[in-house]
Amino acid sequence: ADGDPEAGEKVFRKCKACHAVGEGAENKVGPMLNGIVGRQAATVEGFGYSPVLISLSEEGLVWTPEELDAFLTKPRDYAKGIKMTFAGLRKEDDRANIIAYLATFEDN
Ligand code: HEM
Repeated sequence: ADGDPEAGEKVFRKCKACHAVGEGAENKVGPMLNGIVGRQAATVEGFGYSPVLISLSEEGLVWTPEELDAFLTKPRDYAKGIKMTFAGLRKEDDRANIIAYLATFEDN
């Protein structure tokens, strides 16, 4: 998707209570999200994932922009039993922008 990373930074405010990005980002309530675009699901070191996310990872889930778009629409429908207490982003633009923003952070 060709989202706008600057607009995505604003949307990411909704995630910040639980997720960090950028230099020195650490796991919080949720895993840190540096390098998440293109990363295999449930593989951030030191984070305790739910069984459902681990199963999806074992089945080969990789967080491509397409998968992130589907996931972020309604996380709890995408992965039943997920620990992420977030309703989702209904607007397609918000999702495209946040994915573009997340893609600016390299793995650390
Ligand atoms: C997991 C993104 C909001 C808590 C994840 C994952 C992504 C993600 C991509 C999977 C990580 C991985 O596989 O390593 C986002 C985005 C958000 C958001 C973009 C905002 C739009 C939140 C909020 C919370 C939260 C508000 C807390 C209330 C979690 C938790 C997990 C998770 C606990 C791990 C889930 C599990 O193991 O079942 N998030 N998240 N997230 N997120 Fe979020």
